[in-house]
Amino acid sequence: MPGWLRDAIFYEIYPQSFKDTNSDGIGDLEGIIEKLDYVKSLGCNALWINPCFDSPFKDAGYDVRDYKKVAPRYGTNEDLVRLFEEAHNRHIHVLLDLVPGHTSEEHEWFLESKKAERNEYSDRYVWTKAAFQGIGGHPYIGGEADRDGCYMLNFFKCQPALNYGFGKVTEDWQMSPDDPACIATREAMKDVMRFWLDKGCDGFRVDMADSLVKEDDENKSATGAIWKNIREMLDTEYPEAAIISEWSNPYQSLKNGFHADFYLDHHGNGYNTLLRDNETPGGDHSFLKKDGNGDIMRFLNDYLPKYDATKDYGYISFITCNHDTPRPRRTLGYDELKLAYALFLTLPGVPFIYYGDEIGMRYLDIPTKEGGYHRTGTRTPMQWDNSKNHGFSNASADKLYLPLDPSEDAPTVEDQLKDPSSLLNTVKELTKLRHEHAALQADAEFEVIYAEQDEFPFVFRRGDLIIGINPSEKKATASLPKNGMKTIYSIGDVELKDASLHMQPQSFVVLK
Ligand code: GLC
Ligand code: CA
Repeated sequence: MPGWLRDAIFYEIYPQSFKDTNSDGIGDLEGIIEKLDYVKSLGCNALWINPCFDSPFKDAGYDVRDYKKVAPRYGTNEDLVRLFEEAHNRHIHVLLDLVPGHTSEEHEWFLESKKAERNEYSDRYVWTKAAFQGIGGHPYIGGEADRDGCYMLNFFKCQPALNYGFGKVTEDWQMSPDDPACIATREAMKDVMRFWLDKGCDGFRVDMADSLVKEDDENKSATGAIWKNIREMLDTEYPEAAIISEWSNPYQSLKNGFHADFYLDHHGNGYNTLLRDNETPGGDHSFLKKDGNGDIMRFLNDYLPKYDATKDYGYISFITCNHDTPRPRRTLGYDELKLAYALFLTLPGVPFIYYGDEIGMRYLDIPTKEGGYHRTGTRTPMQWDNSKNHGFSNASADKLYLPLDPSEDAPTVEDQLKDPSSLLNTVKELTKLRHEHAALQADAEFEVIYAEQDEFPFVFRRGDLIIGINPSEKKATASLPKNGMKTIYSIGDVELKDASLHMQPQSFVVLK
C-alpha cells in the first residue's frame, strides 16, 4: 500500500474547465500548473486529472485516440511532465485517468482491427465472425468496417470494447481470458501505465475497471485476476503508485488489487442516501438535508458490511461529486454542504473533492457538450474571481468550453476567501484538521457510537477522537462513552455536559 494514500485528500480536476492560459476558451495543463498553489492552500495533496489524452472528444476524452499523447488542446507531453514535477515540488501526487476497457474508434489499434486482412490488432477488440452475426444482448455494430464482423461496444457508440476475453466461452468468436490475444491487450495496458509512471505520474484512477472480461465473469473473478496481475507489476516495479477504481464494489475491487474504490452514486446505496437521495418517491430523504427526513441507518446498513469486509485490503473513497454526478449544491445549501464535507473528511478511506464543490458551484441546466448530456451541468468552468469569465479564461464568452454560472451570486474563490465562515474556508479548516490528526485519516479505526433509525445525531469514533453530526433543524442529544472530552473543532453550537452531547440544529463536532 503506497503510504502517501493514508493522509491523501484528492482534488479532481476536469482539465477543460479549470483554467485557460492561452485564451482559446479551454482549460489547459499550464492552467493546472498555475493553480497548484491554490490546490495546496485548500489542503489537497493529491490530484486526479480526467483524461487529458489525444481524443476526438465524443465522450469528453474517455474516448482515447492515443494513450501516450497529451491532447494538443491541453498542451504537450512535456507540459504534463512539468506538471508532475511542479506538483511533486509541492508534495502533491498526481493520478491520471486510465481508460482500459475501450478506446476511441479512431485509435490506431482499432483502425487496424477493422481491416479485412488479419493483422496484429485483429483480436485487440471483441469481434464476431460475420457482419450478420450479432452479439447477444448487445447493440448490433456491423457495417462500419471492411472487416466481415460485428464489434462490441463498451459504452458509447464511439468506444469499441478492448478484448480481455469472456468469462464463459459459448460462441466460436469468443476467447478465453488466457488466450494470447487477451494477454496482449493486458500487456498493452501495462505498457501505457509504465509510459506515464516512468514520466513521473503517481498512479491512475481507472475508468470502468469492472468492464474488462465479458459475459459470465462470475463475481468478476476473471476481471479481478487481471487487476491482481497488474497490481503485482506495480508492487514490483512502482511500489509507490496507486490505482483507484471506478467499480463501486469494494468486495471485488479491493480484494483484487485496487488500493481504493469509489463509493459511487447508485440509487439507494449508502452513499446515495447521504446527499443524493432525490429519486426516492415522496421526496429527498438524504441524511444531510436539514429537513431531517433522512435515516443514517440506510447509510450504515450498506456501508458497514463493506467497510468491515474490506478494510484490511484497501480504502472506500467518498466523493463530494464527480464529473458524472450532479453537483451537491443542486439540492444542498451552503450550511448543509459544510456538514456534508465535514462528514466525508472525517470518515475512513481516501476522500475526493471535485473542483468547484469547495465553493459550492451550482449544477447548471445547459445543453450537452462532448457526450456529457445531463452530466454537462457539473462540468462548467471554475469560478476563480470577479474578473472577466470569473477568471477562467480571457476568451470571448462565446468561445468558452462551457458557459459560466450567470447568477449575480455565482460563488467565487475570491469572494469566499474574504469571508471567514465561507464554505471554502470551512473546507480548509477541515482538511487542516484531517492532516493534523492521524485518527481522522484513511486507516484509523472507525466505530459507530450512536446511530438510530430516523434519529439524530450520528456519533462515531475515529481512533481517540469522537465525531458528532446533527444535520437536522432540530436539537439532538446522545451519550458519550466517557466524561471529560474536549471540543477540538466544531461547526454550529454544541454543548458537552459530563458524558452527554447536546447538538444544536445543523452542527458538527470533533471531540478528544
Ligand atoms: C466512466 C466515466 C464517464 C465515461 C464512461 C465511459 O463512467 O466516469 O465519464 O463517460 O466511463 O468511459
Ligand atoms: Ca487553453
